[in-house]
Amino acid sequence: MFGLVALADRGVHDPDYMPFLRAWTREPDGVRQRHSLQYYWRCWASWDVEAWELPFGVWVDDELVGVQTIMAGTFPQARTFETGSWVQRDHQGQGLGKEMRAAVLHFGFAGLDAVRATTGAFHDNTRSLAVTAALGYEPNGDQLRPRDGEPARCLEFKMERADWEPRRRNDIVIEGLEPCLPLFGLDATER
Ligand SMILES: CC(C)(COP(=O)(O)OP(=O)(O)OC[C@H]1O[C@@H](n2cnc3c(N)ncnc32)[C@H](O)[C@@H]1OP(=O)(O)O)[C@@H](O)C(=O)NCCC(=O)NCCS
Repeated sequence: MFGLVALADRGVHDPDYMPFLRAWTREPDGVRQRHSLQYYWRCWASWDVEAWELPFGVWVDDELVGVQTIMAGTFPQARTFETGSWVQRDHQGQGLGKEMRAAVLHFGFAGLDAVRATTGAFHDNTRSLAVTAALGYEPNGDQLRPRDGEPARCLEFKMERADWEPRRRNDIVIEGLEPCLPLFGLDATER
């Protein structure tokens, strides 16, 4: 967690461009770090079967390079999850975004038995949109979201389990999930 805060301090995106719905990367020094820690603590502290947010650290060898988050509301009933991510700037454009998204799709579909994944990005976030396109999501409309005080077009995407199955990777391994399944409202004995 402290490592992720320090990693974000080294830069997440071009300062002139805001890829996030909440402009946390533009907060002043001191505030940004505190808010980031509060965010990670909140993910643990407010965990509920009906609403959870799970940020996975992303390591290349022993180096922390980013975060891949998976989140859901009413997952036991809707079996739908959403994702969000960032890679520290120095490590972008090297294929990591695609790898980590593929990993979390595997976690959601293979690990949690989900039926749909969703994601979204601002219309001009070319890298994020390229990752989404490369992994085979379908367009699912758009929304206007506030950015820099103005409405900005956010493109939405979805992937059904049937779209993921043919792309399923056999080199991704999930470890340690079984004892955690009740936290997702899932029963290991039914699987
Ligand atoms: C979005 C993000 C997670 C993607 O991770 P990444 O490691 O950079 O992505 P990858 O290298 O796996 O893939 C990038 C894709 O963009 C393409 N790309 C690379 N550089 C690019 C550039 N300067 N402009 C446009 N596209 C570019 C790559 O070719 C690749 O597409 P392809 O699969 O069609 O070849 C990362 O760039 C990031 O953290 N950005 C800032 C935060 C952010 O935008 N988060 C997402 C919010 S929705």
